[in-house]
Order: sequence, then C-alpha cells, then structure tokens
Amino acid sequence: MLTPQDFSEFAQQRRSTRDFLNKPVELETIKDILTDGMTAPSWSNTRPFVVAIAQGEQRDRISKKLVARLNESKDLPGMGSKPDYTHEIPYPAGLVERSMRVGKGIYETLGIDRSDSKARFSFLERNYEFFGAPAALFFFTHKGLDQFGTLDLGLFMEAAMLSAQTRGLGTCAQGYLGNYPDIIREEFEVGDEYALVCGMSLGYPSEHAINTWKAERLPIDELLLQPKS
Ligand SMILES: Cc1cc2nc3c(=O)[nH]c(=O)nc-3n(C[C@H](O)[C@H](O)[C@H](O)COP(=O)(O)O)c2cc1C
Repeated sequence: MLTPQDFSEFAQQRRSTRDFLNKPVELETIKDILTDGMTAPSWSNTRPFVVAIAQGEQRDRISKKLVARLNESKDLPGMGSKPDYTHEIPYPAGLVERSMRVGKGIYETLGIDRSDSKARFSFLERNYEFFGAPAALFFFTHKGLDQFGTLDLGLFMEAAMLSAQTRGLGTCAQGYLGNYPDIIREEFEVGDEYALVCGMSLGYPSEHAINTWKAERLPIDELLLQPKS
C-alpha cells in the first residue's frame, strides 16, 4: 500500500523534461500511459478530449513544419499563429512574475543571456523539435464543454504524466505545441468540434543540465484565500 510519504516523494519528483534521449517508446507503452490517464475524473464521464500521437517519420515531418512556421514568423512565440485557444501574452499581472522566474531559470541553466535573442529563439525551436523526444502528443478538447473540457484534459494529462514517470519516462506539457493547429490537422483526422489545446513531448530523459533545473514549488499558503473578517 502506498503511504502518503511514498506518494508525496513520487509526485515531487515529477519535473518537466526538456531534453530527451533518441530512444523510441513503444506505441503500446504510450497507450498504457494514456489508459492510466483515464483514471482521472471527468465531467459526467464525457471524456471530452482526443489525442494525436506522432512518432517516427510523422513526428519528424510535423517538427519540420512547426520549426519552419516559427521561422517564417521570425517573431515572438505565438506571433503569426492562429491557435484554437488564445491567451494573454505577456501573462496577466500577478502571474507574470512567476512565469518570468521560469524563463530566467531555464535560460540561466542553458547559459543563455536574456539579451541574446538568437539563442532564445533557438530554445523556442527546441520546443518544436519536441526537445529531441521520440514521441509528440497533441491534445484537443471538445468545444462544447468550454472550461470543463480543458479541466478534464488537464486531469487526464497529469495522471498520464505520473504514469509515464513510473516507467522512467519524462514528459513536458507544451503550450507552444498548440500554436499551429492547422499543421496538426493536416496530419490527423480531427473533427471540427475539437480544438487543439496543447501538446506533450514524451521520451526517456537525457543527462542534459536542463533536466536538473527545478521550477519552484509555491508554498500552498500563497494560494489559500483568507476568510473575510
Ligand atoms: C499547459 C502547460 C503548458 C506548458 N507549456 C510549456 C512550453 O510550451 N514549453 C515548456 O518548456 N514548458 C511548458 N510547460 C511546463 C511548465 O513550464 C512547467 O510545468 C512549470 O514550469 C513547472 O515545472 P515542473 O513541470 O518541472 O514542475 C507547460 C506546462 C503546462 C501545464
């Protein structure tokens, strides 16, 4: 039986992986991981999401198209893209500081100066190369359920990510992979009622220093609302 300490330790170890070994992952393993994802709860058990798995030649082709599109825009992430879901960039006040700490941590670990826009752009390209991962997953939610669709998807993704971790596999959820839905639609049969939310790189983590960087875990008290006095 898993103790609370066992679970906490295991969950604390989940970290986004941003450099992968060139070692394939069996399709059956990916399906097992996604099956574990299905242990998450879902609004009326509707499971309002669909997943595209890209590996091998298809993965390489999609990556090339994404990198080419990014280079065409030659601009900030998301510029020149028509994502199915848009969000505020830069991040809203109150959240932007947190996101900047992530950027700082990643760039410092990679030895990239913030003023070095070329090197920063290369890191963006790495997002579209799936950080070298052999498998790229793309997640769509049903447009009809609004926030519950994305909520259910997030729960599903986290359960799948923890399952991947039990198998020694690393993952990185990637909002960037939601930027060019037309490219993913060219490659998979996606119903019009589904919208691309984000993607995920999946594979075996390498020893690269970027995988040793740890995003801060905010103390839970920072998120707890105070009762009105
Ligand atoms: C919806 C979502 C989108 C994300 N998009 C990206 C992304 O495009 N590129 C990236 O490198 N990391 C991305 N991340 C990973 C976050 O930066 C990461 O989860 C966060 O900094 C906390 O670090 P941890 O996952 O190692 O705990 C994303 C995470 C989520 C949940």
